[in-house]
Amino acid sequence: MLGSHLSKSESETIQIATDFARILLPGDVVGLIGPLGSGKTLFIQAICKYFKVDEIVTSPTFTIMNQYTGNLANKEFNLIHIDLYRIKNREELVELGFNELLGTPNSIFLIEWADKVIDLLSPPYYIVEFKNVEENENHRIVIISRVES
Ligand SMILES: Nc1ncnc2c1ncn2[C@@H]1O[C@H](COP(=O)(O)OP(=O)(O)O)[C@@H](O)[C@H]1O
Ligand SMILES: [Mg+2]
Repeated sequence: MLGSHLSKSESETIQIATDFARILLPGDVVGLIGPLGSGKTLFIQAICKYFKVDEIVTSPTFTIMNQYTGNLANKEFNLIHIDLYRIKNREELVELGFNELLGTPNSIFLIEWADKVIDLLSPPYYIVEFKNVEENENHRIVIISRVES
């Protein structure tokens, strides 16, 4: 599941995300990186669906953070969806309590625009990077890697 994937459509990105979700466990941190409209939120929606979240998952651009209840082997856990698009600097994040948030127990963290806080994350964590493909507006390169401690 780690490595580089070519997605030719929204549904292929959903499939990549679903396959990736199988390896996730509470405690994991996933940083998503890529331009606006590249598929970060779609990817997170697919992960949430895999974990049977029954709420509608939307980008928490204005609220910074949404929290959902997921289900894995009949045990509930939190899916914490963070969108840092509007964050200007790390001082703002520290004020918002980002570090404390990452200490929330029994949670998977899904962070859009993680490149803004990469130095605040402590390994291990996963990075999912989306790259647009010039030749086709529906193609994406999706690179999944794990940064080890
Ligand atoms: N291969 C693809 N993978 C993901 N999204 C795609 C793909 N092709 C087209 N899209 C479209 O790109 C948009 C991605 O939006 P979104 O997930 O909100 O991006 P982001 O959160 O990165 O800003 C959606 O409208 C989706 O339908
Ligand atoms: Mg988004």
